[in-house]
Amino acid sequence: MKRHYTKNLRALLLATGLAVSPVQASNPPPDPALLAKGAYLARAADCNACHRGATAGSPDYSGGIAIATPMGNIIATNITPSTRAGIGSYTEADFKRAVTQGIRPNGERLYPAMPYSAYQGINDADIHALYVWFMHGVAPSDAQPEQTRLGFPWSVRALLRLWNPLNARLPPVPDNVNTPQLQRGYYLTEVLGHCSACHSPRNAMMGESMSQRYSGATLGGWRAPNITSDLVSGIGAWKDVELMQYLKTGNLPGKTTAAGGMAEAIDNSLRYLTDDDLSAVVAYLRQIPAVRDSAETTQAWSHPPEPQVRAADKAGEALYQSACAACHRSQGEGAYHAVFPSLTANSTTGSHTPDNLIMVILDGVERDGKFAPATMPGFRAALNDEQIAQLTNYVAHRFGNPAIQVSASDVATQRDGGTTPWLIRLVPWLSVPAAALVIWLLVRLARRRKGV
Ligand code: HEC
Ligand code: HEC
Ligand code: HEC
Repeated sequence: MKRHYTKNLRALLLATGLAVSPVQASNPPPDPALLAKGAYLARAADCNACHRGATAGSPDYSGGIAIATPMGNIIATNITPSTRAGIGSYTEADFKRAVTQGIRPNGERLYPAMPYSAYQGINDADIHALYVWFMHGVAPSDAQPEQTRLGFPWSVRALLRLWNPLNARLPPVPDNVNTPQLQRGYYLTEVLGHCSACHSPRNAMMGESMSQRYSGATLGGWRAPNITSDLVSGIGAWKDVELMQYLKTGNLPGKTTAAGGMAEAIDNSLRYLTDDDLSAVVAYLRQIPAVRDSAETTQAWSHPPEPQVRAADKAGEALYQSACAACHRSQGEGAYHAVFPSLTANSTTGSHTPDNLIMVILDGVERDGKFAPATMPGFRAALNDEQIAQLTNYVAHRFGNPAIQVSASDVATQRDGGTTPWLIRLVPWLSVPAAALVIWLLVRLARRRKGV
């Protein structure tokens, strides 16, 4: 009876726009300015990119998206204020510990697919606003996402007790970050935006490599490029207005567009930031120390187009004319004011790695454009590995980086989500000798006790 009452009350409050979580139903509704602040912070921290429902139209923050990692898929949980399926029974202290330290109220460690290493820098006032937003602004959903099931040894969450002190690190504010704008930029980029989670390479323990921050990394087959201030390998040669336009719209004629994880970051987060905040991000990016890859001598977007088709690329050209030219046009020049982007002067076709070119052919693009959705179909089902390799080689040679050469087996690797670091591949094997060692020690101990 009582349950029903609270439920009806909640439904009524929801209908009147005052979503109140069951635990706090009797408290006065929170200050609208605080709610708005929490909502903005949740966007700047991109919580919904990972915690959104797995199917289109499912409630915000209801969970179920699988985050592909070398250890397997990690499924983001329901963080709506549902007491049954979400975080409705969390106190503010519980919330703070989960978000900033990756620890559940029951002590269980969260996998670092939840970016608590970056969020450890969220200040208490902002944690409070976020908590109020999640408890009172977000509609509760009882959807139960699938459970994460990683193989041994990754299934042992307690291993993170060892991993966290070594790897869950947030670099301190650099000395030269000494103006209010740069400090805001640090907070938005390093802490809330967790840009480094995708853009920084990982060490053998899968922690972020501190000396190579922002020099580019691969996640689930996609390459997050070098965004250090280097003039060749990074984005040092982009103008401020160009960076602003890219972060706001994901479409920057003459340089690149956003697909993969960057499309999600723009769709769910960056496009909602105020111009002041975006300028602060840009200012912060400008001072990231340059990291140059000595193998790169040409900026990814500045390769000249190649008018001649190589003899070996004829099959790729035929595929291009039938699958791509309707939108990107026969000379790769694009159409409709870059709604269909040019494939020349494009950092995806000109990159020194073919990863994103292969991924976009496999999976296409699906994101909100400035006026209409930016949609490119994926060809994962329609084309085989050999055909995608031929297409990739043709597109790279004609419009982008002439040095790219991919094989069908490279495409097969990308299809499966990219290469797995060697240590991760090795660990299940390493665990066999490790288990043998433990058993041997236990047997010795038992024998010594018995005096054998
Ligand atoms: C890059 C993806 C990602 C982003 C961004 C992200 N999360 Fe998470 N979060 C996860 C994953 C994955 C889990 C589950 C981890 C696990 O199972 O160990 C999780 C777990 C949680 C939990 C623990 C819930 C439970 O299962 O008990 C809370 C609370 C949480 N996230 C809140 C947030 C908030 C608030 C934000 C934004 C400030 C946020 N998350 C942003 C991926 C993300
Ligand atoms: C979920 C992973 C992810 C996150 C988080 C992320 N990025 Fe990216 N970023 C990517 C990927 C992948 C690309 C390549 C996209 C493409 O070419 O289609 C990219 C591309 C870019 C580029 C264009 C670089 C070039 O040379 O083409 C810039 C600039 C950029 N990101 C800045 C940022 C900033 C700033 C943040 C934080 C506010 C951020 N990214 C957060 C994955 C991510
Ligand atoms: C129906 C139209 C359409 C077709 C067909 C199409 N594309 Fe696209 N393509 C797009 C749109 C739209 C975008 C994204 C533009 C944006 O993000 O603003 C895009 C983006 C791209 C990008 C940039 C991706 C990135 O990482 O930023 C590349 C490269 C590309 N397409 C190559 C191809 C190739 C190769 C084919 C053929 C296999 C193809 N496209 C077929 C419409 C199309």
